[in-house]
Amino acid sequence: MKYDTVSRDGVVADYEYEATGTHHTFEVDVPEETAERTGVRYGLNPAWFFPEWPYHYEFEGYIHVVELTGLEPDTTYYFICGGPGGWSQEWSFRTAPAASKDIVFAMGGDSRSPYGGEIRSHPERVSNFPWGRNWVSEEMAANEPLFTIYTGDMVERGEYPGHWNSWMNHQQEYWVTENDRMIPIVPVVGNHEVLTEMFPLAGWEYGKENSPFYYEQFALPGNERWYSLDFGPDLHVVVLDSEVPREELSIQASWLEEDLRATDAKWIVVAFHRPIYSSGDHGSDLKLREYWEPILEDYGVDLVITGHDHDYERSYPIKDGKVSSRAEGGVVHVVNGVWGAPTYPIEETNWWTAKAIDMRHLFSLAELSAAEETLNLKAIDSAGRVLDNVTYSSRVRRPVVPLKPLEVNPPEVAVEPGEHVKVTLRASTEPGDLIVPAVTTSSMYDTSLKWNQWKASPAEWTFEVWAPEAAAGKSINAYFNLYSLEDLLEGRFTPRSQNYITLHVVEGPNAHLTFLGTNDFEGFARPSWPHFNLGGSPYMKSYFDAIEKSNPGGVLEFDAGDVIGAAPPLLRRI
Ligand SMILES: [Fe+2]
Repeated sequence: MKYDTVSRDGVVADYEYEATGTHHTFEVDVPEETAERTGVRYGLNPAWFFPEWPYHYEFEGYIHVVELTGLEPDTTYYFICGGPGGWSQEWSFRTAPAASKDIVFAMGGDSRSPYGGEIRSHPERVSNFPWGRNWVSEEMAANEPLFTIYTGDMVERGEYPGHWNSWMNHQQEYWVTENDRMIPIVPVVGNHEVLTEMFPLAGWEYGKENSPFYYEQFALPGNERWYSLDFGPDLHVVVLDSEVPREELSIQASWLEEDLRATDAKWIVVAFHRPIYSSGDHGSDLKLREYWEPILEDYGVDLVITGHDHDYERSYPIKDGKVSSRAEGGVVHVVNGVWGAPTYPIEETNWWTAKAIDMRHLFSLAELSAAEETLNLKAIDSAGRVLDNVTYSSRVRRPVVPLKPLEVNPPEVAVEPGEHVKVTLRASTEPGDLIVPAVTTSSMYDTSLKWNQWKASPAEWTFEVWAPEAAAGKSINAYFNLYSLEDLLEGRFTPRSQNYITLHVVEGPNAHLTFLGTNDFEGFARPSWPHFNLGGSPYMKSYFDAIEKSNPGGVLEFDAGDVIGAAPPLLRRI
């Protein structure tokens, strides 16, 4: 087969592969100017794609965004929309309360349509799209929640306007109460909105520019990717973006801390797409767990709601990697990714599993009682049956010590490899706080620090950092964390503030050579996968580029065979 393997660059490369015993060979010439959008889709099963849905990014029409300001809290407003060409029917919406009161809200995610061949290749998986999606939405609306947190994967392909039309039309039809009140969505971005699962190394798939329809159609607070909302003084909802590279997990971790430090709500719900405790098909995302779990526990988050795995699972309260209690600060994790997408079986549960339900389409309903200070959580399936029902009492959240941002001077500096630089850290905190700094190192470089003991606020420290020889030609960051002594004594190791210095390290006299070994990335080897316009080499390209960029001095690659179809050419300068 010959086709566009580096679709973003429009490069045409020779390519071959074998699909379940049948050898396919054909040629497709992809004009460079259309390479980004053109591909060939085929498979051994029919219905690999949905021809009735638009195939490309092209979108005809307009998306109008109207902001209504100065609204009263806890009030119903009626509206129509349209223009000279016609007006819609009348709907209403209800604003969030400002005072403490009972709140009913729904949660869940993953309604995306099945792949064409999924039902056939996985007979244990059940999908009845779009009916499963619609029935769950109908049940959700019948409970008249004030809003619904949707934990991602609304659509199969986030770049297809037709998929969004399907979602939006469904929302208009089903996310409406009996008296025509529209139920607002608090959306979370999933991998199907940004395609990270399909192109994990491509490097261009993250962020807003590659998910235009999601971000154009949802008007969200903050940077829209991670944000928080208050529903009266009792409920604080935080949304995070799990579809990001590692460095953005760290950025979000810092933002999350700031956000949680600022709230004194009785209940905190944090939503993101990929679960950090899941017995399902995809399992637990350990990277997210590493970055976010300490903060979720330190700041007393009550409930973490996720999707991605197409099943339902509620954990016991978890703290420090084991079953705990709510009173001890345990966090309850709920996976709820079965709003119509093909269901996944749960083969085996884990130590954290309090309740697991598979092969059902369902959503979660939360009823918060202001007077009783309780939160009742139910799982309700598409037929209205209650399959899980648990009530939590509110708990006293430990007061957090507010720390102001950490100043680092100088914020950046040019250095020779090995040169020592004096850095001043300054933190002004609340009177009486005892704080201690520490530095975060990475394997790319080393730091040498002489650091003082903890200090009372306001505090200032002077450190020395230096860049190792291996950092020649690079810009590297040395991160400083600030801890509360009280936290450390109680075994909490989440920093309260973080900042960094950037060292621009000039090229040294010695050359450095990076050795890179590769083999067996010949191309697309999963015939059941419908997105075969990318092969193994495009996956690797960004990796090669990153390696080469990391050492301008030279990279030597060893290729141990099976590199057919690789593009671009594998020879690198030495
Ligand atoms: Fe997902």
